[in-house]
Amino acid sequence: MRFLDIIEKKKNKLALTDEEIQFWIDGVTNDTIPDYQISALLMAIVLNGMDEHETAKLAEAMMNSGDVIDLSSIEGIKSDKHSTGGVGDKTSMALGAMVAACGLKVAKMSGRGLGHTGGTLDKLESIDGFNCFLTEDQFKKQVDEIGLAIIGQTGELVPADKKLYALRDVTATVNSIPLIASSIMSKKLASGSNTILLDVKYGEGAFMQNIEDAKTLANAMISIGNKLGRNTMAMITDMNQPLGNTIGNALEVQEAIETVQGHGPKDFTELCMRAGEIMLIQGKLASSKEEARKMLEEAISLGKAFEKLLKMVEYQGGNVEQIKNTDLLPKSKFVTEIKSKEAGYISHIHSMQLGILAMHLGAGRATKADPINYAVGLKMNVKKGDMVQAGDLLCTVYHDSDLTEEWVDKMYQTFQYSDEKVDPIPIVEAILGE
Ligand code: URA
Repeated sequence: MRFLDIIEKKKNKLALTDEEIQFWIDGVTNDTIPDYQISALLMAIVLNGMDEHETAKLAEAMMNSGDVIDLSSIEGIKSDKHSTGGVGDKTSMALGAMVAACGLKVAKMSGRGLGHTGGTLDKLESIDGFNCFLTEDQFKKQVDEIGLAIIGQTGELVPADKKLYALRDVTATVNSIPLIASSIMSKKLASGSNTILLDVKYGEGAFMQNIEDAKTLANAMISIGNKLGRNTMAMITDMNQPLGNTIGNALEVQEAIETVQGHGPKDFTELCMRAGEIMLIQGKLASSKEEARKMLEEAISLGKAFEKLLKMVEYQGGNVEQIKNTDLLPKSKFVTEIKSKEAGYISHIHSMQLGILAMHLGAGRATKADPINYAVGLKMNVKKGDMVQAGDLLCTVYHDSDLTEEWVDKMYQTFQYSDEKVDPIPIVEAILGE
């Protein structure tokens, strides 16, 4: 087989065979195809697409390019969820504890944050001693014993994706539904769970800018998952304003704790409940959303979800005292209130800009090598649709160095006002794959 012929075929808008896709991914993994040829094929895919069968085959070949975790020694259905990334997204911690408290086995591999979006691992590491790097055996043992583990990647998962993503990043070939869907799903498939819930975010702070694109991506990922024998569903959720009220690592841990205790922000709690309903049905622990919601509400009100979070922190070496008393979590040196200069309805909150401003405080990384300051971040006091008066609190800033005039100006620019009443945005726009 000649790789040149494969590029030629995709250039001419023809579907690749399973053998051709396997030959490509083997060549990527073994370094036998030069980067310029791989890049040419990537560009041809961006321009001419891939059908559902090709996309699923690509995900499967990528999944098999490295280690594949086998969770079959753990009894019951193993569940995973994945978010395409957003601002203030602390869902995995709270939702994981909620559904695990209802009896689900949650085996979750998460990532670090880069740019305006945060990563679950960074958030968990704001708890003293928390270990995100368990061995595969420790990971399985923990899921088996307590039903919940959230860790970084173990082993060499999907090496083909690492190479392809690095090339896509520098050849303007990131933006392609089959390439994004196969990249995300190859990693989910390799992490071994039986069911996958995808939280595909749309809007300004998200990878997909509008609902239609988010649905197209979600459907492409559902098709891959289902073709490869995983029960896969997706939620399309709003990222046109931060999720919950907090942005920043320790602040988000605190909000996740408050949420599993039943006093989290309304939008974030609703997202967790809707996601939890789906996961409990996928995991065959509930037969209807109503039954699932009751189970989740009980897990919260009886303190079981909080207990589960505590257990996970204890198992992973974290300081449980910080979970019991969140005053012990890292705290910033300074706290500054940002108050509204005008009256009106909040018509827009630029979530991506808020993510970038939080990153500049030290809550996130501009490059992979940057250190994280766990204590700093933002606590929002308003949501889209709220009416504010001049002098009302918009946001509290937790910081360790002086805020520059430019930073404060940019913070004010993240809020837009209207004289007319503005409808709040529903957090869950749609559920796909039911
Ligand atoms: N996230 C991934 O893991 N892969 C992509 O291609 C895009 C986002």
